[in-house]
Amino acid sequence: MTVEERPVIALDFPTYDAVKSFLAKFPADKKLYVKIGMELFYSVGPEVVRYVKELGHSVFLDLKLHDIPNTVKSAMIVLAQLGVDMTNVHAAGGVEMMKAAREGLNEGGGFATKLIAVTQLTSTSEEILHRDQNIQTTIQEAVVHYAKITDEAGLDGVVCSAQEVELIKNATSKDFICLTPGIRPAGSSNGDQKRVMTPSAAREIGSDYIVVGRPITQAADVVEAYNEIKKEWNA
Ligand code: C5P
Repeated sequence: MTVEERPVIALDFPTYDAVKSFLAKFPADKKLYVKIGMELFYSVGPEVVRYVKELGHSVFLDLKLHDIPNTVKSAMIVLAQLGVDMTNVHAAGGVEMMKAAREGLNEGGGFATKLIAVTQLTSTSEEILHRDQNIQTTIQEAVVHYAKITDEAGLDGVVCSAQEVELIKNATSKDFICLTPGIRPAGSSNGDQKRVMTPSAAREIGSDYIVVGRPITQAADVVEAYNEIKKEWNA
């Protein structure tokens, strides 16, 4: 069973101070699972990861690596030393690159770090797929193909839209992690997310992890918003 009971909070903040004041709103003994992405990592650096880990929270480091296998491996050796709980690469980098990423994590001591892959970004339309990437299939076929090669490379799972979970689990295995962003509790704003799903529907359909950003980070009462979403996810 891979289901993570805590919604993963996307810490999409530009500064260290914003992260600190957000986390300070939660009781100190409440251990969260947070996602640190490119903006925060590139502006503040690895220090923010160490800070969050020292508070006892779990971290998904969402840097989406995509480069030649040797470079990705070297980067993963370094990232492994941060002790994050999960990190990711682009499946488009190929099986060899994904295997190199895993090797790098292990070599850096990150045996316990889960490694997942991005299939197709949810911002990729069929037009972009066909014209820019020259992949002449449907988005779903492209996503399932990438999920299969991610599984073949021995990674733990993929980032995908909740709508794709069933297809992906059928093409891989039920233990293959599907981490799904684009989650909106009923009644909240979609923002720029096009295809959204509620926490309970995502659970129903087989998501193992949900990533939630603005419905928590921009709520008037962030702790209450988090608790409500967590409750709905685990109901
Ligand atoms: O605020 P919101 O809940 O939309 O945040 C979702 C988070 O998940 C953001 O950090 C966004 O970059 C990320 N994400 C996404 N869709 C993907 C991959 C990542 O929304 N396909």
